[in-house]
Amino acid sequence: MVVNIALGKDGMIRITGPARIDVKRGKILLVGASYGAGSSVVIHSLRSYCIKALEETELAITLGSGATVEEPSEGEEVLDVWLKICDDLAGDLNNLKNIEVFVVGPIESGKTTLSAFISNYFIQRGRRVAIIDADIGQEDIAIPTTIALTEPKHTFVWQRDLRPVKIKFVGCISPQYCQAQLMIALNELLSESKNNYEVIVVNTDGWVTTHQALEFKLNMIKWLKPTHVLVLDQEIWEYLSNALPSDIKVINVPRPFKVKERSREDRRRLRAEAYRRYFSEAKDRDLNIKDVKLIGSCLLNGKKISTDELKSLVKAPEEFINKVIHASKYFNAINIFVENIAYIPRIEAVQGYEVNIVRPQDIEGLIVGIVDDKLRDVAVGIIRKLDLKNGIIKVFTPWRGNIKALIVGRVKVSLNTFEDSTRISRCVI
Ligand SMILES: Nc1ncnc2c1ncn2[C@@H]1O[C@H](COP(=O)(O)OP(=O)(O)O)[C@@H](O)[C@H]1O
Ligand SMILES: [Mg+2]
Repeated sequence: MVVNIALGKDGMIRITGPARIDVKRGKILLVGASYGAGSSVVIHSLRSYCIKALEETELAITLGSGATVEEPSEGEEVLDVWLKICDDLAGDLNNLKNIEVFVVGPIESGKTTLSAFISNYFIQRGRRVAIIDADIGQEDIAIPTTIALTEPKHTFVWQRDLRPVKIKFVGCISPQYCQAQLMIALNELLSESKNNYEVIVVNTDGWVTTHQALEFKLNMIKWLKPTHVLVLDQEIWEYLSNALPSDIKVINVPRPFKVKERSREDRRRLRAEAYRRYFSEAKDRDLNIKDVKLIGSCLLNGKKISTDELKSLVKAPEEFINKVIHASKYFNAINIFVENIAYIPRIEAVQGYEVNIVRPQDIEGLIVGIVDDKLRDVAVGIIRKLDLKNGIIKVFTPWRGNIKALIVGRVKVSLNTFEDSTRISRCVI
């Protein structure tokens, strides 16, 4: 269905995708970027946005299934406030030469949209802009479990349209399980790129509603020292501005009034879409275990133990022992790699020992970070198979260069559906 809409100068409409907007006459502002007559923009089915007419405008809007168009009520739309915040940032940029803006807020509060808005605002003013997507759970630039930097040269609607320039592996999709990894990855990305851009916008994750979460955000800000923190939530803004010295500008930003809400399932699908895209060019690579380090593996980094030694440490049925491919130990942990068995029998260990049993199906799909010769994070892979008989680990990855090490993540990804699942504590490989 196509609807034709005429807007007077400063008129606004809110559109929920899937939709395509053709600007027939005039000029609009969408996510901080302006589009003139003849241009056309697409709104994804899981997004909604507000459009403002910068002059008298005529639009032809093609609505897909479930799409809506409505006029926001007086005072409902936040776009003008966002523009004013960008003007203030631009003023600070003139004085400071570089700004680093952290965008903080709960899930669905508008972090991704605000990050895009600020970026577009500065791209249109000819500034060198980078966006770091540090939201490991809903990472749009690269894939979940990573954070990534992109360097948009042109205005855009959604970060998903952009490609990563640099990517750092974190290994989790929930920051609470990878706090150190996330903090260090972000620190590395920022310090490697600081001098290359005038504006760096960092989109953070939505883990903000517990004390531990806020403390983590506070430490992130204190250690990484952005010039500005934009907060899309009144209470979080109060907490952060009370806690931080005034050298860091902590700004309260109103969040979009009415948004297209995404369910847990929608977010899961978005993650799957991101993995599928990233791995679309991937190939299987056979890596020699002797040459590649496996950082974070309990099984392969422990001291290898013989069957006799294993038998002296654990009491297990003979048919189970016969299926053991590899066993190792360190301190009080015994790690056993066993052939595909449907049922794990009861195994008793000598007092004080803990037993980890790993089966091939537990390893298959495990996400790993790829480290190159210079010990840099360069890509991500998915473990297909651990073939200890031939000393090979098979990894599915788009990376074609040398691999010095793999970093074990806490997430598994299905190679059929690209859906992910998290393993938190147990030894997986
Ligand atoms: N001004 C707006 N009006 C209506 N919907 C909006 C507006 N700005 C953003 N949205 C929508 O709100 C939803 C959540 O925004 P998003 O930026 O993805 O939040 P977050 O990154 O915090 O999860 C998205 O569907 C987005 O398209
Ligand atoms: Mg987001």
